[in-house]
Amino acid sequence: MAPPTDTLRMLQSVKALPSLPEIIILVEKVFSNPNASAQMVAAVLDDDPSMVTQLLRVANSALYAGASPQQCQTAVDAVTRLGFREARNICLATGVVRMFPSDGPAVNLRAFWRRSLVVANASHELASYAPPEATVERAAYYTGGLLHDIGVIAMEQFFHEEFLRSRELAKEEGMPIVEAEREVLGADHCEVGEELAWLWRLPASVAAAIRHHHDPEQCPPEYIDLARRVHVVVKVFDGNDSCSPDDKDVIDEEWRTLGLSGRDVLMFLALASEQAEKSKVFESLLSG
Ligand SMILES: [Fe+2]
Repeated sequence: MAPPTDTLRMLQSVKALPSLPEIIILVEKVFSNPNASAQMVAAVLDDDPSMVTQLLRVANSALYAGASPQQCQTAVDAVTRLGFREARNICLATGVVRMFPSDGPAVNLRAFWRRSLVVANASHELASYAPPEATVERAAYYTGGLLHDIGVIAMEQFFHEEFLRSRELAKEEGMPIVEAEREVLGADHCEVGEELAWLWRLPASVAAAIRHHHDPEQCPPEYIDLARRVHVVVKVFDGNDSCSPDDKDVIDEEWRTLGLSGRDVLMFLALASEQAEKSKVFESLLSG
């Protein structure tokens, strides 16, 4: 078995590996400025009409427009209606989704991103239950959720044969996917995803959430709350993009670790279910 570093080095040497688009870096910068205005955000988006189009589509959707007869016409209108938090999430999701424009033979990107958006929104929601000592900023819960499985896409696109073999092995041996990936590729999608996060200079908290979304207890203490919450959401939405009150019993132990009472869990599941519905609006991001 090749040591993980070989696979990770190979990943870095793949010429087609996309770098994080400049627009995402600029958008993150403006949204993290506490003094930013909708006008400042719009000025950043000026050079990226397709991102503005996506923002307008979501802002004018029934979910956000409600009964308002007014159509948002400009980026300023859209950011004002959506609020900074939603607008930032939509810009980030748009930027990341279009980095991998075509389906790989083994992964349906539409289904992949639909689920990633659901996990991102629910992780963001679950962050409201984080203890006061959790210092990671709330935006990282969304980003960590959105990108938790980004290593899967990288593996599928850049190590296609090995990726397929790992899926076959997992199926044949009834082995967890991550184990099969390590067996075949020498690294799992969590490690590959973390490597991408570093290449893209994403915050250390997001890199840690990606690396530890299957083994949160191994996460460095400063990011463990984030990793635990993304992990629980991944479990709730395991293999699908909906949830129900029955999910309360599936991961009883972990809810307790997160400090949620039985009532909190049911409230969260109701909200997460709503978020999953909301993520359908975001599907317009997937149709270009
Ligand atoms: Fe995963």
